[in-house]
Amino acid sequence: MSNQNNFISMRSVSGNPLSGTAIIPGDKSISHRSLILGALSIGCTEIEGLLEGEDVLDTAEAMRSFGAHVVKHDNGNWYVDGVGVGGFAEPKKIIDCGNSGTGVRLILGAMATSPITATFSGDSSLTKRPMGRVINPLKQFGTQFYGRSGARLPLTSVGAKDPTPICFSMPIASAQVKSAILLAGLNAPGQTVVVEKELTRDHTERMLKGFGATIDIQDSKDGRRIVLDGYPELKSQLISVPRDPSSAAFPICAALITEGSDVLVPNIALNPTRAGLFKTLEEMGANIKYINRKSEGGEPVADLRVRFSALRGVEVPPDRAASMIDEYPILSVVASFAEGKTTMLGVKELRVKESDRIDAMARGLTDSGVNVEQEDDTLSVYGKGPLGVPGGADCVTFLDHRVAMSFLCLGLATKNPITIDDYSPVTTSFPNFKDLITNLGGQLEEL
Ligand code: S3P
Repeated sequence: MSNQNNFISMRSVSGNPLSGTAIIPGDKSISHRSLILGALSIGCTEIEGLLEGEDVLDTAEAMRSFGAHVVKHDNGNWYVDGVGVGGFAEPKKIIDCGNSGTGVRLILGAMATSPITATFSGDSSLTKRPMGRVINPLKQFGTQFYGRSGARLPLTSVGAKDPTPICFSMPIASAQVKSAILLAGLNAPGQTVVVEKELTRDHTERMLKGFGATIDIQDSKDGRRIVLDGYPELKSQLISVPRDPSSAAFPICAALITEGSDVLVPNIALNPTRAGLFKTLEEMGANIKYINRKSEGGEPVADLRVRFSALRGVEVPPDRAASMIDEYPILSVVASFAEGKTTMLGVKELRVKESDRIDAMARGLTDSGVNVEQEDDTLSVYGKGPLGVPGGADCVTFLDHRVAMSFLCLGLATKNPITIDDYSPVTTSFPNFKDLITNLGGQLEEL
């Protein structure tokens, strides 16, 4: 993030119901992949609805550094003139991935099997995050890495000259790692195989197919086996990016906990590998109606109508974690307004996101008068019922956009205002968050 040193403190205040229509920006995962796959294909890929958050803009800049021509036209669409599989040029400067784990891990994969050297860095959140999970499998292709201890950024990657394809069984549930391996496999001979026991978001697989790669997916009792044929000629595409369910989660959850709210959130991507939050909210008793279900750009989408609801605490099973991994911070806010205890199991991965999200949320909720327990792999929240959360806390956001937005949503329904130390990271994923919440009637005040 360019503005990481300019902290913008913000306060959210309750009192108004949320009402109206919330137009959510494009999906972040699909936006990164559109730029990277566009850069790896032949011809000009046109992208409609690209998320213009800083994370994605950093990936656009990275693709330029690897030789692709990336521009935005007056019609609002983005155009990527690709260099083809194996066509990446050696960047002349350090690749700055800002705050984005997805950006750096996917690009590390995309360049791993090209005979070029590149150095990657990022902001003070990204340079703390583990890269071993992605560089260990990429080393098996023949790629070399030179980084800080603990495989942290800054990190230099020397792409394999004669890559060998790999067969990799995923030790953790991570779409970033899976995608990095598949992107590396594009420029390797033969077949690259990834086996995942827990299903993670499958945008890379869907999009690779759309760009013309041969990819075979088989499910068995041992998990999902994904087989990619090397050296495809990827052909440019017209991509319409669906609206991001992880961003939609904020106004949806804010409406559920704010008395009198009734909000329409159109055209939200409901890919089953991303839809765990909605299932959980329904189990909690949320009043959510799905209207106009259809398919757009290969992804299921629907309009969601959400109303203030009386909620009950639930146990969220560990096998649901991958399908809602980015939504636990806002779920912990919703759980604070439920009757009874909500237990989120199998959530250890939250500790290595933009911040340690279990700890960050536990601190802010505790300071807001909510009883919270954390263990290594579990977060439990003892709900105080609708309208029952005292609030009044100054919450620390640790350069984490989702933590920041979660606490702002909390303050829309607490008895006393919530203040966050820094709003600036929100621009990485949801640049119009403040305007959108304000237009719905929510009170957010920059301090
Ligand atoms: C993402 C995968 C998830 C998610 C991240 C986006 C992706 O990370 O948390 O925000 O686009 O592949 P992990 O794969 O590390 O769980």
